[in-house]
Amino acid sequence: MTPTVIEEAAKPLERALCIEGGFALSGEVGIGGSKNASLPIIAATLLAAQGETRLIGVPRISDVEVMCDILRGLGAQVAWNGDVLDISCRQIRSTEVDAELGQKIRASTYLFGALLARLGEAKVPYPGGDRIGARPIDFHLAGLRSMGVYITTESGCLLGKGRPQESSFYLERPSVGATINLMMAATLGHDHHTTTLSNASMEPEILDVARFLSAMGARIYGAGTPTIKVVAVSHLTGATYEVIPDRLEAGTFLMTAAASGGDVTVTGVISEHLTAVVAKLQQMGVVVEVFGDSIRARARGRLRATDVLAEEYPGFPTDLQPCIAALLTTADGESLVTDLVWTDRFQYTDEFLRMGGQVKVTGSSVRIHGVSQLTSAEVTANEIRGGAALVLASLGARGTSTIYGVHHLDRGYAGLIDKLIGLGAHIDELPIPT
Ligand code: UD1
Repeated sequence: MTPTVIEEAAKPLERALCIEGGFALSGEVGIGGSKNASLPIIAATLLAAQGETRLIGVPRISDVEVMCDILRGLGAQVAWNGDVLDISCRQIRSTEVDAELGQKIRASTYLFGALLARLGEAKVPYPGGDRIGARPIDFHLAGLRSMGVYITTESGCLLGKGRPQESSFYLERPSVGATINLMMAATLGHDHHTTTLSNASMEPEILDVARFLSAMGARIYGAGTPTIKVVAVSHLTGATYEVIPDRLEAGTFLMTAAASGGDVTVTGVISEHLTAVVAKLQQMGVVVEVFGDSIRARARGRLRATDVLAEEYPGFPTDLQPCIAALLTTADGESLVTDLVWTDRFQYTDEFLRMGGQVKVTGSSVRIHGVSQLTSAEVTANEIRGGAALVLASLGARGTSTIYGVHHLDRGYAGLIDKLIGLGAHIDELPIPT
């Protein structure tokens, strides 16, 4: 039976993971729904003044629970029925997002565009989320202003007034968040106005949100390409929708095989979303085979060093940059990992040093000299993917490592520990008294 929210809340929130390295992981693991598609899709349900929404495949992670709580605070009815998330936004009684909850997740910014489109006003705190360097939202604001929304700031909150109107907006960079926010903001209007977004993000999650909006009755053209056109419609209606599988969870599990010298198959994935990851693992000497919606990764001897450039889709994803760096700490030779999206996303490298890794950050890159094996240490996760990188490093390290900051992993990976144990990992969870 799926645990209820109350049962989950009763679990000790903070705990440490003790991972004994040196065990080859093997077996199959099912991949859940995408976090980065689910969060905006849940926000988008606010646009439906009619009908009910039923979402299938939404992962039970803490960022999702926070988004659900925010929606409840606005007046929406939100309930888990087993693995299905039912949401009704027919009656929204507030346009003010709870400041404490809103600051916890980056995705709360999506509520700005959605509330403005639905009700013509919104108050949303400046967002929180991962600490991976500066995370401006200037594109979101410039785009909404180009749609005629009047935006001010007050005590750490964004205040917006006015229903978004027709606009042509060029994004200086293909921002995932800004593309989604502006796409949602443009969906509603009585005069069928058309908004054009140029240099839009092409990540698979954009297409998924667009498909959900279309299932609700929106008219969106070109999602998944750099030019998206949105023709406003008078109303949207709740819909039943299944979110795409999480390519980042899948990529992380494929890497557990490489990290532990094992043989892991991820199932229920969309393989083409992982093309760059598969290619990079193959380049490193991992045997990777794609069978429809499953991918098998098998380690074969020591990994080979390689350079990695993390960039926008279809390039290698920034969210797997810390994970691939973890693998490269024990590869044969020198690697250079560069992140063009989050140029400061290297906080995790301090923890690699504690484990005997030879890593040096310069500018937006980390140079890695592969050592034969890492050694166990006490390390701390500072963000979701940096935390996943520490898990990977620990799986291959000599001895038992202790990872703190596990709540970061809970934000992005549903059932991570159970899945790892199912593949043969030796992991204990130690509650930390608060
Ligand atoms: C989303 C993902 C995050 C991923 C990132 C890039 C969610 C909840 N998070 O974050 O996991 O790492 O995409 O794939 O889906 N930028 C600006 N101004 C803006 C917006 C962005 O300068 O207004 C810059 C950022 O500093 C960054 C780049 O654009 O350098 C990409 O950011 P963006 O794509 O917006 O990331 P998020 O949507 O925040």
